[in-house]
Amino acid sequence: MAKMGTSSRVAAAIVVVLGFVLSLAVVCNGGKTSSFVRKVEKTVDMPLDSDVFKVPPGYNAPQQVHITQGDQLGKAVIVSWVTVEEPGSNTVLYWSAYSKKQKSEGKFTTYKFYNYTSGYIHHTTIRNLKFNTKYYYVVGIGHTERQFWFITPPKVGPDVPYTFGLIGDLGQSFDSNKTLTHYELNPQKGQAVLFVGDLSYADNYPNHDNVRWDTWGRFTERSVAYQPWIWTAGNHEIDFAPELGETKPFKPYTHRYHVPYKASGSTAPFWYSIKRASAYIIVLSSYSAYGKYTPQYKWLEQELPKVNRSETPWLIVLMHSPWYNSYNYHYMEGETMRVMYEPWFVKYKVDVVFAGHVHAYERSERISNVAYNIVNGICIPVKDQSAPVYITIGDGGNLEGLATNMTEPQPAYSAYREASFGHATFDIKNRTHAYYGWHRNQDGYAVTADSMWFFNRYYHPVDDSTSAQ
Ligand SMILES: [Fe+2]
Repeated sequence: MAKMGTSSRVAAAIVVVLGFVLSLAVVCNGGKTSSFVRKVEKTVDMPLDSDVFKVPPGYNAPQQVHITQGDQLGKAVIVSWVTVEEPGSNTVLYWSAYSKKQKSEGKFTTYKFYNYTSGYIHHTTIRNLKFNTKYYYVVGIGHTERQFWFITPPKVGPDVPYTFGLIGDLGQSFDSNKTLTHYELNPQKGQAVLFVGDLSYADNYPNHDNVRWDTWGRFTERSVAYQPWIWTAGNHEIDFAPELGETKPFKPYTHRYHVPYKASGSTAPFWYSIKRASAYIIVLSSYSAYGKYTPQYKWLEQELPKVNRSETPWLIVLMHSPWYNSYNYHYMEGETMRVMYEPWFVKYKVDVVFAGHVHAYERSERISNVAYNIVNGICIPVKDQSAPVYITIGDGGNLEGLATNMTEPQPAYSAYREASFGHATFDIKNRTHAYYGWHRNQDGYAVTADSMWFFNRYYHPVDDSTSAQ
């Protein structure tokens, strides 16, 4: 190496100092861009003969068992499963320690997708359950009965603690399996999952190979048979394939995953709401019409004034395509919906919005961008204590891999961002406080790589931002 002269040493020192000042400026401008270094291997799907996809033994054994909330209050559960050889029984047998065995009857459906024919997809709603009670349930008959259990949520009320898990864009890769395992072993113990869309990624296979919907159902059963997952539709649920003669959007998804949309006055399963414990959860569809006069718009317009914060202080919105996203992926895809609905979110003081789609993690400050009126030039998001925090949690681990390119510098609204696979939990303590934590797959189960104490926007609307004040 050639020796440096004094002047070049001074120049180098200036460059170093300048670089330091500049990087400080970046840190102060936006929040934190994590420097965590993760593995760079490709994300690959688990092969079809993986143990997580194993078909349960026995003739016509129920498989792909999954549950979700079945009404608006949490006193009903939709139990779904698939039988392959023949329709079999639609009955769910269920009981608790305090009640005798009861039966509930449902229905089954089937569908065809190009050259694929589904199994018999059963959906049975169990109603009039008691709150906060462990129920056992059995599906199947004879030698192929399979037993599971779930715990109903506590009665809806303002100070009821409850822990939600958050998973998005899961898929069925080796990384997906790690994400699910980390969620299951997280000592924070999620009681229900808020799933922000993109389930199986079957549409990435030739002819949208729907066998991958079946394998995904078997893979996730170990969690979703025991606790409800609240579903949001993502773009990988659309399965619109005119080249295959498949022109009805959402066909596999709507046959396989039922949601209680009618209970909240919705006219389609893509947007709906539920109450659970102290939370009011609104699910929106990035892939259904949302402009003025559309069914989703009219529903949301009537829905938001119905939220009674003295009953459910926590107002949570789920959608697939994020409104605020500083990665170089899916840029502005959520923008038109933001323009339509953001003033409502500020007016009704939504606490937090969870989205997926971008395969990475990001948490925003409380910001809004509603002031722009063409001539005033006010088109940069500003801090707004009535606005939600926006969290992108599309990092479940699907085969498309991570979104690693970010816009630079980090925008001021972005509090933390990192391209790692993981999941999160939203742990409501009471009407004023909730502890939020994001867990990356490489860490120990108890570690939170990003966390925040949420202050409720209705009962405790003080600044809860995590950046330097
Ligand atoms: Fe997506």
